[in-house]
Amino acid sequence: MDTPQPAPVSFDAEGGEALLRTPNSVYALRIGTDGSPRHGYWGTPLDLAEILESRSSAENSFEGSDPTPDELAIETGSRFGVAGLRVRFADGVRGAQWRFAGAEVEGGVLRLRMVDRVYPLALELVYRVRPDSDVIERWVEVSHTGGADEPAIVVERCDSGAWTLPKRSDYRLSHLVGGWAAETQVQRDRLAVAETVLTSRRGLTSHQANPWLALDAGDATEDSGEVWSAALAWSGSWRIAVNRDPGGQVTFSGGFGHEALSFRLTPGERMRTPVFAGLYSPDGFGGASRAWHEYIRTHVLPHPEEDRPVLYNSWEATGFDVDEAGQLELARLAAQSGVELFVLDDGWFGARRDDRAGLGDWTPRAEAFPRGLRPLADEVHRLGMRFGLWVEPEMVNPDSDLYRAHPEWVVHAPTRKATELRNQQMLNVGRPDVAEWMHATLDRLVRENAVDFLKWDANRMVTEAAWPGHPDPDRLWIDHVRNVYEIIDRLRADHPGLRIEGCCGGGGRVDLGMLARVDQVWTSDNTDATDRIGIQAGFGQVYPAAAMVAWVTDSPNPLTSREVPLRFRFHVAMAGALGIGGKLTEWSEKELAEAAELVAEYKEIRPLVQRGIAYRLQGPDAMSGVHYAAPDDSEHVILVWRPTIRFGHWPPPTRLMGLREDATYQEASSGATYSGRLLRERGLELGLPAGDYASRLIRLRRVDGVESR
Ligand code: GLA
Repeated sequence: MDTPQPAPVSFDAEGGEALLRTPNSVYALRIGTDGSPRHGYWGTPLDLAEILESRSSAENSFEGSDPTPDELAIETGSRFGVAGLRVRFADGVRGAQWRFAGAEVEGGVLRLRMVDRVYPLALELVYRVRPDSDVIERWVEVSHTGGADEPAIVVERCDSGAWTLPKRSDYRLSHLVGGWAAETQVQRDRLAVAETVLTSRRGLTSHQANPWLALDAGDATEDSGEVWSAALAWSGSWRIAVNRDPGGQVTFSGGFGHEALSFRLTPGERMRTPVFAGLYSPDGFGGASRAWHEYIRTHVLPHPEEDRPVLYNSWEATGFDVDEAGQLELARLAAQSGVELFVLDDGWFGARRDDRAGLGDWTPRAEAFPRGLRPLADEVHRLGMRFGLWVEPEMVNPDSDLYRAHPEWVVHAPTRKATELRNQQMLNVGRPDVAEWMHATLDRLVRENAVDFLKWDANRMVTEAAWPGHPDPDRLWIDHVRNVYEIIDRLRADHPGLRIEGCCGGGGRVDLGMLARVDQVWTSDNTDATDRIGIQAGFGQVYPAAAMVAWVTDSPNPLTSREVPLRFRFHVAMAGALGIGGKLTEWSEKELAEAAELVAEYKEIRPLVQRGIAYRLQGPDAMSGVHYAAPDDSEHVILVWRPTIRFGHWPPPTRLMGLREDATYQEASSGATYSGRLLRERGLELGLPAGDYASRLIRLRRVDGVESR
């Protein structure tokens, strides 16, 4: 008989204690004597009694009565750290003071309700767990409960939650940093005994910092050890503040908006913050990544079961110089190479000859597409491909009909000089009229041109932010993002076949909020295969390969001038959602044939890449790779890359920790069979050719006939 499983979420009203269970973790909290939820425990499964018994009581009269970290810190009481909730009332008083008003448990959701003891402010701290994931989703709902004549409450900060780790003697912080064409570089340093702030003040997620972090006690490896990590589902400005105190306590609080922004909560209003998702993993950095991938595929991405198509994109081939005949020529060659989706990039609209004009005027440029886009779309369809179109709907060039008609639509402060980035301004999509125009424009474009796919770009950040005439101008930072989300959601609902790629000058808007409504994202404008290895490895720390678009482009690479063989470029791009972005008209017959062969091979391994379980591989001398395992262990694909040979070293066998010890596997190319134990312990001989830019795609099949996991 099955033993009954404990409920995933429980709340004991008497003790004021809550417990959340996921398959490999437990999270505990309790309502403190002052009515504020306090952290209990987050980590490996323990039972509630043990957790509560082990509660520390390091009280001292200097620090006040309850030193336990808050689940969302407020500004009253003896709290001097980062406040996750900062409010100011009309009489000048700052900070909430809670009375606990009850908890609700429904399915996997726990809601803790607090009301202010004096002012009409209420807050719900919400937690959600799912039976198949160790990710805990958290958010906050803050409301003004007063009557219509009560004054507004100014909210200066409302994080989605604070996370606290068990005390350890040391901690290390891993996060993703970068810049344009250099996104998602893993940074792993000792966590300072200080406040460390990860943030974007750009109005977009940013290339510079990605809203994800991981913490470990300095002892985790790729394959083992405890890792606590978190990711924020928000595509605008954000902030995560990590605090490590000299006593070993580590807490981080995170949410939308950067410092110094505020909004006014008006009577009757309720504001819900984005999800801040946390994950405890007992299986090292690799285990944490696999848990994120699985969560994102199962619960975040739309259509996770679908193969992401092999696409062709014209940007690096033709730049702004697009026209019907040229695109058709590329489309024919793309179709012959096995491409399934042809994407017409920038340059097709308005007066767009370069980046100085045309953004905002989303009608085909007459001299380039005299018959409109439909003939191209029809021909692309006839060639057996889907038709995709690049748009940058949130932006406008001052040299455009849209700007001339509506200069008031851009984000601007009338008294300030407006900074131009890439010669463009940002539309204030928070404005209902702008949002309505944007939805109608995109809806028409998709409808009239049989568009199957939009590449949705956003190539500048917010500067001189203001919202003239609006009573609460910082709402811009929230409403812009929310309306973009809503428009994407509406387009998808009205055009169920439409697929969308998120883009932001490459990977400047990659986060769980975007991934909940786009099928994939453009990883980076850097398509140099060698640079891409690092960018993709960082991306894969949290986001899955199915969402990571990777193109094979020309050699020498237009950005880095590096010359890289075609096979190596393919092998790197095949680790994600494969695309081609080269000038196919200049590829030789031999190159086109090789490309077609590699695209065909990609289609064979695609289910493993896009829906498999990923294990990162790291060898000496800059050798690295990735191993994708079928969830049922039946098939495996290993991609390895070594851009530079050093000292004539022969790479040692690579240990494949994603295989089962007790299984037998056959290598497809040689027919050799190996035990899983051998490949895990001694490793697989990679057989990399000598020289620079050595790469291999190795396939293994399980052959012992045993029912797999
Ligand atoms: C951004 C994108 C590129 C391309 C250009 C077009 O930089 O990331 O892929 O679409 O814009 O202007």
